[in-house]
Amino acid sequence: MTVIKTIKYILFALIVLSAFIIMILYSNLNYKMHPLKADQNLYSQNIWEINTDSLSKKILSQMSLEEKIDQMYGEKIYKSIPKFFGNFLLKQRFAHIYVGRNERLNIPPWVLSDGPRGARVLDKNVSSVTTFPVAMARAASWNTDLEFRVHDVISKEMRANKTNYAATPCINLLRHPGWGRAQETYGEDQWLLGEFGVAAVKGIEKNNVMACPKHFALNSIENSRWVLDVSLDERTLREVYLPHFKKVIQEGKPASIMTAYNKVRGEYSGSNKELLSDILRKDWGFKGFISTDWMYGIYDGIKAIKAGLNVEMPWQDEYSYNIIREGLNTNLIEEKEIDSLVLTSLKTRLKYAFSYDSIDYNHKLVLDKSHIELARTVAEESMVLIKNEKILPFSNDDNLKIGVIGRLANTENTGDLGSSNSTPPYVITPYIGIKNYHKNSEVILDDGKNIKRSIELAKNLDQIILIVGYTYEDEGEYVMSRGQMLKSAEDKELVGIKGVGGDRINLRLKEEDESLINEISKVNKNLVVVYVGGSAIDMRKWEKNAPAILFSWYSGMEGGNALAKILYGDINPSGKLPFTIAEDPNDYPYFNPYTDSIYYGYYHGYSLFEKYNKEIAYPFGHGLSYSNFKYENFNLVKYNRKDSILLFSVELTNYSDVGGKEVSQLYVGFENSEIDRPLKLLRDFKKVYLNAGEKKIMNFKINKNDLSYFNTEKNKWINESIEYNFYVGGSSENNILLKTSEVIYQ
Ligand code: BGC
Repeated sequence: MTVIKTIKYILFALIVLSAFIIMILYSNLNYKMHPLKADQNLYSQNIWEINTDSLSKKILSQMSLEEKIDQMYGEKIYKSIPKFFGNFLLKQRFAHIYVGRNERLNIPPWVLSDGPRGARVLDKNVSSVTTFPVAMARAASWNTDLEFRVHDVISKEMRANKTNYAATPCINLLRHPGWGRAQETYGEDQWLLGEFGVAAVKGIEKNNVMACPKHFALNSIENSRWVLDVSLDERTLREVYLPHFKKVIQEGKPASIMTAYNKVRGEYSGSNKELLSDILRKDWGFKGFISTDWMYGIYDGIKAIKAGLNVEMPWQDEYSYNIIREGLNTNLIEEKEIDSLVLTSLKTRLKYAFSYDSIDYNHKLVLDKSHIELARTVAEESMVLIKNEKILPFSNDDNLKIGVIGRLANTENTGDLGSSNSTPPYVITPYIGIKNYHKNSEVILDDGKNIKRSIELAKNLDQIILIVGYTYEDEGEYVMSRGQMLKSAEDKELVGIKGVGGDRINLRLKEEDESLINEISKVNKNLVVVYVGGSAIDMRKWEKNAPAILFSWYSGMEGGNALAKILYGDINPSGKLPFTIAEDPNDYPYFNPYTDSIYYGYYHGYSLFEKYNKEIAYPFGHGLSYSNFKYENFNLVKYNRKDSILLFSVELTNYSDVGGKEVSQLYVGFENSEIDRPLKLLRDFKKVYLNAGEKKIMNFKINKNDLSYFNTEKNKWINESIEYNFYVGGSSENNILLKTSEVIYQ
């Protein structure tokens, strides 16, 4: 009996397994591509001249309920699951998931591609794309023109790979440096996040690709993202965690936005009416469509419809026919609510399907020489020289003996391998970059694994470049079974088990890296520590022993070449930190990736360190140069009561014999405010090149509305008639900033 039962089980399992294998093989052998643009042959006028708003209404009026629901999720589950997982397993590729295709009504689909550092979804004829430094590195360039150009390239390559919806930029605020996905965002400051987010969205939309900033909202912890409930007060929400989203929505005008997995004040972001309807749509006037993050973005379809969520991705879970029909039958929802969600999506996305393309987006565009050059320029502009005791630039004489030492010295290391992954054709590692640079010197690679050998080697070297830091194994997106996560949350056990990627609880470098720095610096001081990673680290164990420190980040496919040029002075470093580095990591806000609920307070980043007078290691906005810049004569040049803009000027001089770029930062502080406010906040910045000895007048402006705070009783932004302090300088460090004050009447 038991034998027969066992055989039956085995047979059943074999049938299920074979069916799954057949589905995977079928969906991949039969990998169908669909056009994303409207078919010109079906229309008697140029497609880009067609009024897509009226067309959307017409199409909606011709749709059955089922067809409407088909616009509200990705692909049907029986197609998408085998295609999605099959592509990963068989081809290590992310599949094209076609959303909202309707042959009967000639509606072209849209297809998502991730791409914070390069297009992720590849066409079958393409095996690699341009891979840029990660977003945190680019934020450190403080160069929004470059960010625009990077996204122009990424979105061009997305189109060439037959996708038209970019799941980027990530503009979640870096509340704590341990956040696993820190590398995907632009740092701790709302202003910097907003400016970079706008530049990214504009660059993406230039190529008729729909931009989708993410993850709305408060997604700043990785391991517990599916179960975490973030609570915070209204002022903190409006002033700290949302201003950059507001700016990106209102100035960038993206087609879409992606909700976060986590709950905000007790409700999942994907079905959070307050976030989606009250704030995003009503307060900010967002006109595009809202989609969930991928898999388990919502848990209650009816609630999500009521909250105003347009699309569930990547397949139907809660937006199923049964759930929606049942909701209609029981009058929990009305069909006009479905109509309104579908109409918003159609109106938005048909604009792109019917748009005019000024270039032919074909495979030849991918990896164009100019794209690769841009990847190198960005890497050059983003590296941050943290410390330099007259070590750099190194001499670039011939016949030197140079050691490139460390586990990561010759590792192809462009960052996380989760959704932000990108596939470059090659990666210039630090060792290869230095070797390419020095044709007439001996460049020695040493992996640092045998410390005694490394010390002996170091004794005889002219220059030492120590490469330390992390890889995708130490930080990044964290995928675990949601069931496992929910179960541990229910049991009130720790949520998340340390696996590949995820959050960093310990901010220190690996022990072997720390001892390499400490031991080698004892025998040879002509040494630079190059840190590869996505966020702040705890340097207390070795910082004083390192005569020079450079943050090179995950620097993309051309990173090694950029590194060599910086170390040898062909490029003058000009990156500045997009976050504060604490002296003691306990001074950062409370961070726990193993919990299902957390409270976010008002202060974080430099506003926290300044408020509580905490010692820091390196300030927000800090970064050294081979030039010497000086700020003088800072003035408010134009303001009268009727003006909404305040104009400032300052003289900036390069008192050195090397040309270089400086990032000038303008902050505002509040004197005698009726409420508790930060000591200062960033409100403008400029990056400028100055020749040796050159002086330039720099102008800054602030809009009066950017001085306001959110009054929770009146539920609106209020400008106070008080004295404001304005500061300018090359970092947020108070004692180097110039100050001017003015009473501003409203
Ligand atoms: C990530 C998103 C990403 C999506 C699609 C999710 O796991 O959180 O950032 O866009 O996957 O790859």
